[in-house]
Amino acid sequence: MTYKDVYEGWMADPEAFWMQAAEAIDWVEKPTCALKDDNAPLYEWFADGLVNTCYNAVDRHVAAGRGDQVAIIYDSPITGAKETITYARLQNRVARLAGAITGKGVSKGDRVIIYMAMTAEALIAMLACARVGAIHSVVFGGFAANELATRIDDATPRMVIASSCGIEPGRVVKYKPLLDEAIEISAHKPDHCIIFQREQAPATMVDGRDLDWDAVQKDATLADCVPLKGSDPVYILYTSGTTGRPKGVVRPTGGHLVVLNWTMKNIYGVEPGEVFWAASDVGWVVGHSYICYAPLIAGNTTIVFEGKPVGTPDAGTFWRVIEEHKVAAFFTAPTAFRAIRREDPTGEFVRKYDLSHLRTLFLAGERSDPDTINWAKDQLGVPVIDHWWQTETGFAIACNPVGIEHLPVKPGSPTVAMPGWDIRILNAEGQELPAGQFGSIVARLPMPPGCLPTLWNAEDRFISSYLEAFPGYYETGDAGIKDEDGYLYIMARTDDVINVAGHRLSTGAMEEVLASHPDVAECAVIGVADHLKGQLPMGFLCLSKGVDREEADIVAECVALIREKIGPVAAFRLACVVERLPKTRSGKILRGTMAKIADGAAYRMPATIDDPVILDEITEALRHLGYPKA
Ligand code: COA
Ligand code: AMP
Repeated sequence: MTYKDVYEGWMADPEAFWMQAAEAIDWVEKPTCALKDDNAPLYEWFADGLVNTCYNAVDRHVAAGRGDQVAIIYDSPITGAKETITYARLQNRVARLAGAITGKGVSKGDRVIIYMAMTAEALIAMLACARVGAIHSVVFGGFAANELATRIDDATPRMVIASSCGIEPGRVVKYKPLLDEAIEISAHKPDHCIIFQREQAPATMVDGRDLDWDAVQKDATLADCVPLKGSDPVYILYTSGTTGRPKGVVRPTGGHLVVLNWTMKNIYGVEPGEVFWAASDVGWVVGHSYICYAPLIAGNTTIVFEGKPVGTPDAGTFWRVIEEHKVAAFFTAPTAFRAIRREDPTGEFVRKYDLSHLRTLFLAGERSDPDTINWAKDQLGVPVIDHWWQTETGFAIACNPVGIEHLPVKPGSPTVAMPGWDIRILNAEGQELPAGQFGSIVARLPMPPGCLPTLWNAEDRFISSYLEAFPGYYETGDAGIKDEDGYLYIMARTDDVINVAGHRLSTGAMEEVLASHPDVAECAVIGVADHLKGQLPMGFLCLSKGVDREEADIVAECVALIREKIGPVAAFRLACVVERLPKTRSGKILRGTMAKIADGAAYRMPATIDDPVILDEITEALRHLGYPKA
């Protein structure tokens, strides 16, 4: 079958296509229909099926006689620890933790926040929640207490499961004090916190509330898998939107299972038993879909890697892991390759290792520049596949589906739409644009199984954020073009979201924090191009009248404030004080024009600009920060 056959097969009868894919899942009760559309534009897939995610990711492989196969390899160059866990062992560990959390009052539909470092226990915690029907919400370790508190208040978890610490190069990040602070400032209080104590920084426990990971499981009974409806949520994952309030992306149980299972063979081209490695973090969607769920659902071996592409200990660490664990397919973000290339431009480290098991490299999370793709291809000698997706979708919208057919590569394009996706390019009036023209990238409704059916606690926001601008379509928030062969080019965001080292961040959220500084009257944050991280945030601060403190002190306080309120992951270090911000006559800040000046890109003077002289002042302030870069 060619890609064209498969895509046209889906087009001809989408429901039959996904019902067939659903055959590969072990249902307690098979769904009688694929799509429920009586509440359009809100849709549900496999709503009347009964199924359990953990059963499909763990127990069914044991039942099929594959209990001795390795399910998880934990490899931590940062601590020197390594561990392999078979499917049989995983089943036991997950069932025991599941028994412990139900013993402490967690049941189907309850939320559990997981705030953990990259160890196998993070996956065990996710799977234990899925086993008993509790809805987990993993929070990335690089977020500050304030961000964790926002998520606690939105998800109102009965329980939090946390590591005592995470380990970053050169420092131990104590998670427990951040958790304590978050619970202190949140209005909602979880009943219990289970703490996975790590020797690098054991945590002090709060009596009555905190429970030790080992102690709570000691006498726990093994919990069975609880059947859920296909439309019940398996998890909530918060992602950045335009404002400081993150969006709680809901993942539905049935569609998630069906679609992720389908992708492992068709998109990633791996067979059960092979080793699949996504070097991301469980705090991001890549970690949910391709460290935890998809490889396990499909019966692969997955790797939990606690390290960085460089410095743990060197730029050869990825190649060491690929050789040692015989990785067949590897998935990471382009920024990781840029970091490796900077340290090892001629690929000396690559040649030290036997990469003969590696068949394909997959990149996503941000735009892959052709230069990075070509370097990776030359060094590794395997196809390098760029693919485009989002937290909201949970799997690739566009890809080169090597498991079906390796299509010709066009550098700069993540190739073509996957089954499930009818992608159009629209202008601001909602009219479809011809091939080659730049516009908003939208997907015709319904979205495929596994995509967000709504936002947690915020159906109106779901509709206004994604469905209202272009009726009948899902608005991706990305802009770009589709060429005459259907190849997509993802060029920019249409909102205030920026992408820093593959991490999705909201400039609006940063502006809210900066505006809380007592000396700041007004501010703007933009994303500027960066050769390593893709983009970096940059802040412009207008001070309140009468403030005559040292500007450098105020800038330093603002940098510290973002780190304190959002977290180190924001990588906010660039800021300057300006007299005024450039605006349109109606008062809209011209962030796009400022970003173009910072990047040294050509720009047209906006016809609606209030006072063009302000752009000269901005240009001067940028020059002091060293922008545009040569
Ligand atoms: N817990 C606590 N802090 C964390 C963290 C975690 N889980 N993850 C990152 N941080 C901190 C880092 O220590 C760093 O802090 P610093 O400002 O004190 O140095 C900050 O957050 C920024 O981290 P990061 O964006 O990872 O930058 P870096 O300079 O440490 O490393 C790269 C640069 C390119 C090596 C790194 O960004 C990388 O590996 N990127 C891969 C991207 C990726 O996997 N993206 C996921 C989407 S697919
Ligand atoms: P996230 O939700 O964190 O996965 O971020 C999703 C956003 O990252 C997308 O909307 C794009 O803006 C960007 N993105 C992800 N993958 C790609 C890609 N392959 N090419 C271009 N942009 C990408």
